Amino acid sequence: MNTPSMLILPGDGIGQEVMTEVQRVIAWFGDKRDVKFDVSEDLVGGAAYDAHGTPLTDATMAKAQEVDAVLLGAVGGPKYDDLDFSVKPERGLLRLRKEMDLFANLRPAQCFDALADFSSLKKDIVSGLDIMIVRELTSGSYFGEPRGIFEEDGQRVGINTQRYTEAEIDRVARSAFELARKRNNKVCSMEKANVMESGILWREVVTAVHKADYADVELSHMYADNGAMQLVRAPKQFDVIVTDNLFGDILSDCAAMLTGSLGMLPSASLGAPMANGRPKAMYEPVHGSAPDIMGQSKANPCACILSLAMALRYSFDLGEEATRLEKAVETVLAKGIRTGDLMQADGGKPVSTSEMTDAIIAELQASL
Ligand code: NAD
Ligand code: IPM
Ligand code: MN
Repeated sequence: MNTPSMLILPGDGIGQEVMTEVQRVIAWFGDKRDVKFDVSEDLVGGAAYDAHGTPLTDATMAKAQEVDAVLLGAVGGPKYDDLDFSVKPERGLLRLRKEMDLFANLRPAQCFDALADFSSLKKDIVSGLDIMIVRELTSGSYFGEPRGIFEEDGQRVGINTQRYTEAEIDRVARSAFELARKRNNKVCSMEKANVMESGILWREVVTAVHKADYADVELSHMYADNGAMQLVRAPKQFDVIVTDNLFGDILSDCAAMLTGSLGMLPSASLGAPMANGRPKAMYEPVHGSAPDIMGQSKANPCACILSLAMALRYSFDLGEEATRLEKAVETVLAKGIRTGDLMQADGGKPVSTSEMTDAIIAELQASL
């Protein structure tokens, strides 16, 4: 069998810093577990713009289509704020998602016991929390037409369109139900069917898919604004949440804080199966390029390292190795080794990005 391939796109800001650490973890798996990948690296976002005048070259896009999995750090930053919209770093990321047709974005929010005290919510509300947000990633208001800034009656008007076809709702609903079957068998679908036609269709299609093929899974519906409130009131009522692109973006940042820090949250973006049976896939932390802490060795590498764990599980059938890596992260946190984002003001001295990885690799080593 060919060595599985992985394309690494560090991107900008702390994306580069955390990806350096992920490379060390990949090297460990190669050396100690004989889990080898054919790894190539390329540019995306502002870094690609600086080198090529575009946030994603056609050549990089073509490479992403060919590999077994893409691992992306983060894109964006104030340096690129004034660029034309068409070449902004974020456009590179959105093109990857759209052209690879990565319609199901899995954003787990799991509260490690060691961090339950650290969440901005009370410990009993978050301890043991394990939810999965399935965000539709290739449609909705991020991509709907018409879009743009137009002149109308002597003033400018900004337009984005929320648009969903039945097929787009159907396929992401199926992903959510399939995941629920492997978890606690519950799906909560969130939209705003009370004010949006796209929400009415969303609810109808999710209900129809459920009735036809997933009646064994418990299904509920919730308006997304109430969903945001319920996520901070009683998040443990949820197992899998399925929602659209924009609501999913917002609700997943909200869920991130339940776990203690945005620096802890990984994600997997999955598309249809390729010829080899593996899903098209990109893995990335939920956080961005964190311009406020870049270049200071303060970034928490866990979200990106846990994204690698998701890649091991979902793209490479290496569930046991994924668990080994997740356990190593959990043990390090339990020992009180933390980057600054996971420390109270009086919590002692935080470790640096690379020291956090040193500790994780030491735990991996101890697991042998
Ligand atoms: P951000 O996620 O970069 O940062 C939000 C806050 O969380 C900051 O205070 C930051 O320091 C902190 N934070 C984030 N990740 C952290 C980590 N690993 N360790 C420690 N602290 C961490 O969001 P933002 O500031 O709104 O956006 C900055 C740039 O990143 C923007 O250009 C935005 O478009 C981009 N962005 C990119 C992605 C992505 O590439 N997937 C995601 C979100 C935002
Ligand atoms: C995310 C980010 C992206 C999004 C941006 C950077 C395009 O916020 O992955 O959550 O809005 O989807
Ligand atoms: Mn976001």
